[in-house]
Amino acid sequence: MKGYDAYRHFVLGCDHGAFTLKEKIKEYLLSRGLEVEDTVPVYTNPIAYVSVARNACRRVLDLPGTLGILTCGTGAGMSIAANRLIGIHASLLYDDFTAEYSRRHTNANVLVFGGRTMAPEDVIRRIDIFLSNEFEGGKYALRNREMDEPY
Ligand code: RB5
Repeated sequence: MKGYDAYRHFVLGCDHGAFTLKEKIKEYLLSRGLEVEDTVPVYTNPIAYVSVARNACRRVLDLPGTLGILTCGTGAGMSIAANRLIGIHASLLYDDFTAEYSRRHTNANVLVFGGRTMAPEDVIRRIDIFLSNEFEGGKYALRNREMDEPY
């Protein structure tokens, strides 16, 4: 499925390093009429990002058509924690090119951003770039599946 149509549901998670960024992402998705599940609706300090990543990723794996969006201070912790789950392909969208190709070639099912390293307007633009593109499948689908095979 193309563009935004591939996703019916968006699950959000953050730690204390990126609560405000997560709120801005939520606002953007809701303004587009998209269905948002916020797993960290209330700010507490500190928030342990590992369990947040795992909870959100379980929702991505359990609910077809769900895209995860995780934020922490740098995006590094959330990326590493998310990618420990088989079936999760989390990509840290640190520039616009990576945003485009994380959809076209990688078909990430979790997007990650840094609240202390990225401006909110850049993050929103990268989400839009990711969602406006389309997975190319073919050899990229084979590589994608290979990532989930035992080694
Ligand atoms: C929290 O202080 C910080 O370590 C976290 O948000 C993140 O940057 C980890 O990768």
